[in-house]
Amino acid sequence: MLIAGNWKLFKTPSQAAGFCRELRQPLDDVSEIEIAVCPPYVSLTSAIEVLAGSKVAVYSQNVHWAENGAFTGEVSAAMLRELGVDGAIVGHSERRQYFGETDETTALRAKAALEAGLKVIACVGELEAERDSGETETVLERQMIPIIKEIGAHERLVIAYEPIWAIGTGKTATPAQAQETHAFIRGLLDVPILYGGSVKPDNAAELMGQPDVDGALVGGASLAAESFIGICEAARQTVA
Ligand code: 13P
Repeated sequence: MLIAGNWKLFKTPSQAAGFCRELRQPLDDVSEIEIAVCPPYVSLTSAIEVLAGSKVAVYSQNVHWAENGAFTGEVSAAMLRELGVDGAIVGHSERRQYFGETDETTALRAKAALEAGLKVIACVGELEAERDSGETETVLERQMIPIIKEIGAHERLVIAYEPIWAIGTGKTATPAQAQETHAFIRGLLDVPILYGGSVKPDNAAELMGQPDVDGALVGGASLAAESFIGICEAARQTVA
């Protein structure tokens, strides 16, 4: 069970340090689950420094596939490793929607990150219109194919199922919808699968209690210590 907080474009280095100080002690005795925070690049170092020796890992929100080269604005897996980063999110729907990320570039990023020794959370998910028209499985399969071809099951690879209609909307997939979709994804690739999309302390236990839900990728509720710790506690109850 992994609970990862995707901070998106929030928290400067000093804000990250203060927030990680708040998280450290309450999460220090949580050994049943894995916990990670995913700050913006510039705040990685302050999170790593404050969380050193704690139970909370630090992931980046993206990573490039090249080791180095003429790729202005990008960051490589080796650079992240040197900072002390444990893993990376790839293929988040916001990267796909606003920055031209594709199924193929997502798989390239995931592969390079794994080869460099990072853990990877690769995101997939359908639009509301795609779910409404019965295309969810087709879309997920299309998104998963390059990952399956380029990588396959890898011990450091995790998939995050994030229905786009549930991200930041307060509209969560029902536990039954999450379970059904996770079971479909697991049929394509047998790795841990996180659910993401309006996960809150009060819906986390039911979602995390589904047999094919192996954790959560949390956006908004990961920005406040109380709600992030609440979600970690709820997840912990489901594995206890
Ligand atoms: P919210 O939890 O804010 O819906 O965001 C989900 C998400 O995109 C996590 O990556």
